[in-house]
Amino acid sequence: MIFDWPARMRQMADFVGFSDEDLALVRASGPILLDRAEELTTAVYDHFLQFPATARFFLTPEGEIDQSRLDRRKHSLARWLRNSIDFQLDEQFPVFLLAMSVVHSNPSMERGYLGSVPARFMIGTMSFAQTAIAGVLSEDMDDPHLALRTSAAWNKLLMLQLDVLLAGYVTETPTPPTPLPVTEEEGALDGDADPQGMRRVLTNILDENHRNASANGSAQPHQGE
Ligand code: HEM
Repeated sequence: MIFDWPARMRQMADFVGFSDEDLALVRASGPILLDRAEELTTAVYDHFLQFPATARFFLTPEGEIDQSRLDRRKHSLARWLRNSIDFQLDEQFPVFLLAMSVVHSNPSMERGYLGSVPARFMIGTMSFAQTAIAGVLSEDMDDPHLALRTSAAWNKLLMLQLDVLLAGYVTETPTPPTPLPVTEEEGALDGDADPQGMRRVLTNILDENHRNASANGSAQPHQGE
């Protein structure tokens, strides 16, 4: 399967209504957010540490907080924030996002014992980031209407990013075409349509998961899942 990622991002930008004006609002908010980047990134990691299911990615095998890993990650998150402020819909941005996605969905050898970061926490982190950014903008922008429009622009931008981040997780299991449904008069639509088809889709997904687990070297469910 071949993907034209910039085209996909453009399609999503149109779909969520991310306009040139939104882009200008995001860029203009750069100095305000970068001024508080340290506080924003610290808030994200403090949040991770509050929940065992996310904290475990930042613990040593002995269960201590791995401060150097945390510091490295804060640095990466600040880089992501800067890149988001400089966002442009070019060839590079989707590559940056996909690479970032794969780091989370396919743990490195060193981190293999932890398994993937569950996709739902990527979604949750985007939600956390949206709320935190909105908070900073409403505190630090004099014009509340402009702060609201800028928050909305950030919300759209982060959803565009989330689509590509999750694509690094999702296997788009192809569904083969099936015959057209027969009409009620023909006696088939009894609410129990095509159980075989449903079973086939589920089997495909389970097989794919199993293959991924074997490729990651663990057939065990992830800890904390
Ligand atoms: C919006 C969501 C997130 C963003 C934007 C983000 C951003 C990043 C970035 C930029 C990196 C560095 C990638 C690289 O090395 O090139 C990274 C690595 C990492 N992130 Fe996240 N992250 C997110 C969510 C999470 C969550 C929810 C967790 C776990 C609770 C997590 C855990 C990690 C870990 C463990 C690494 C290190 C991976 C490795 O070096 O093997 N991240 N993240």
